[in-house]
Amino acid sequence: MTERYAVFGNPIAHSKSPKIHSMFATQTAQSLSYEAILAPRDEFELSFRKFTANNGLGANVTVPFKEYAFALCDELSEQAELAGAVNTLSVLSNGKIRGDNTDGLGLVADLKRSIGSLAGLNVLLVGAGGAARGCVLPLLQSDIAELTIVNRTHTKAETLADIFNDYGHVKTLPINHTGQSYDLIINSTSSSLTGEVPNISPETIAAHTVCYDMMYGSVATAFNVWAVKQNANRVIDGLGMLVGQAAESFLIWRKVMPEVEPVLIQLRSEL
Ligand code: ATR
Repeated sequence: MTERYAVFGNPIAHSKSPKIHSMFATQTAQSLSYEAILAPRDEFELSFRKFTANNGLGANVTVPFKEYAFALCDELSEQAELAGAVNTLSVLSNGKIRGDNTDGLGLVADLKRSIGSLAGLNVLLVGAGGAARGCVLPLLQSDIAELTIVNRTHTKAETLADIFNDYGHVKTLPINHTGQSYDLIINSTSSSLTGEVPNISPETIAAHTVCYDMMYGSVATAFNVWAVKQNANRVIDGLGMLVGQAAESFLIWRKVMPEVEPVLIQLRSEL
């Protein structure tokens, strides 16, 4: 019987995950299927259980189901526990469901692939939603010098920083603070979806600053356009993070790490 994998979401029609995973499977000579499943908004668990009863061995989970996926797991990785959300479900040999969160690992892998080691970097994380929360631990585990979180609603930045107090030095500042620049600025907000840019000061960008937007598109995101105008050293979008998180999920399920680069080049050419 085919070993089945899938991505669950709502909506899901435009997901790139089936394409990414089928390229990984071909590349690593793994025999498996990977489909996109549209789960009704109030029936994620039912839909997932049906899938596992029919040889479903693992699933990616995207909006709006990451917290539901978290809630149904029998066991969680530390990263998933701290993220409060699960994007990778695996059926273990004893039938239990394990949850991981590979979003932050995908981000860090993409950053390292793009700019090298993150050791010693002074990092500004913009946003305090689910996307931000998923990447704090992997960033702290990358030997960065300091992580500063800012958010439009400042209290949410403080709440997020508190969750990670025991794991490293996490600071918060007002979103529009001035007088300081960073080595790396990561935009985790959804602002680029509406063509907006978070209200951070141009002073956060120095000549050597790298700016990363978790969003991506066929043209540069609003945040990256703004960062270029402020003379950032380099801007990167989130397509590599998408392929990176998929690669980490594939590794968990199949115990083999696929190559990200050829898949990323292919996806980029199709944007
Ligand atoms: P996600 O799970 O994708 O992170 P979320 O939990 O809804 O989504 O969080 C969205 C994040 O984008 C929040 O940090 C939000 O700021 P608020 O907490 O103040 O709402 C941020 N955000 C969205 N639009 C923004 C904008 N135009 N400018 C600045 N921040 C924005």
